[in-house]
Amino acid sequence: MRVGFIGAGHIARALGQGWSRQNLSDPPELTYLDVSADAAAKAAEETGASVAADLAGLVEASDVVIVAVRPQHVAAVLAETAPLLGARALVSVAAGVTLEELRAALPADAHVARVMPNVAASLGLGVFLFVPGTLGGQERATEDLFALAGDVVVLDELHFDSATAVAGCMPGMLAMLVRDFARAAVRRGLDGDVARRLAVAGVYGAAAVIAREGDPDAVITSAATPGGMTAAAITAFEERDIAEAVALAVHAAAERAKELK
Ligand SMILES: NC(=O)c1ccc[n+]([C@@H]2O[C@H](COP(=O)([O-])OP(=O)(O)OC[C@H]3O[C@@H](n4cnc5c(N)ncnc54)[C@H](OP(=O)(O)O)[C@@H]3O)[C@@H](O)[C@H]2O)c1
Repeated sequence: MRVGFIGAGHIARALGQGWSRQNLSDPPELTYLDVSADAAAKAAEETGASVAADLAGLVEASDVVIVAVRPQHVAAVLAETAPLLGARALVSVAAGVTLEELRAALPADAHVARVMPNVAASLGLGVFLFVPGTLGGQERATEDLFALAGDVVVLDELHFDSATAVAGCMPGMLAMLVRDFARAAVRRGLDGDVARRLAVAGVYGAAAVIAREGDPDAVITSAATPGGMTAAAITAFEERDIAEAVALAVHAAAERAKELK
């Protein structure tokens, strides 16, 4: 599979890193294009990819074209790409740009999908929200492509923004909590580097255990011995209504998707 990225920023690089990991038996061939030649060169260097000279060259070198520019740049990119696309698949990873908007900007028979990745794709641990759109016969191959870098969840577009708020935004939201756990340890006298190391290693191991169990409640039950330290922490969380704060964060992220373009 040949994959061409329009845009070589954070998410395009994360995807490229995921797809160029050592242990993949049949890694895709990657090509980058960016308005910044330096950005494309940097992405290509770290993933063993090629750099396209222009948009026509990028599309020509691709079976799947991934639109990885910021939402406000998508319309301009689609206008330029539309006459070049032919039967190739186009996948947009832009937040807030609907399938209907993508289709309206492309020929009626274009093969278009939306995917929402997250940066954990770089480690092969991504979550991909996948709206197959009009991929038709290319749906399976496209799903398999993303599955090389993580877990693909096929989704109705109706739920896309809410799902994005949980999966796409999770690395940033969780990083904030990890930082705050480290700060809490510093407030109790720990050295900053030690505190950060404990918080990072703690979340890494905890995430692996939660993933293995598949049920957060089961982990809470096993970790929170009645009368113990974790139980005291959970009670403190509940008294401050952390569940409500999380719900508000997810709501804010999902609503923001409507204002992005
Ligand atoms: N970052 C994430 O974790 C994440 C996760 C999921 C989805 N997304 C989505 O992915 C998209 C990109 O996000 P990002 O964080 O990767 O943004 P980013 O780091 O700003 O990367 C976008 C890149 O595209 C370039 N660009 C702009 N117009 C272009 C054009 N016409 N042709 C080629 N390149 C062009 C930009 O150059 P300039 O900077 O010079 O404009 C920039 O280098 C967004 O739509 C976002 O919603 C991001």
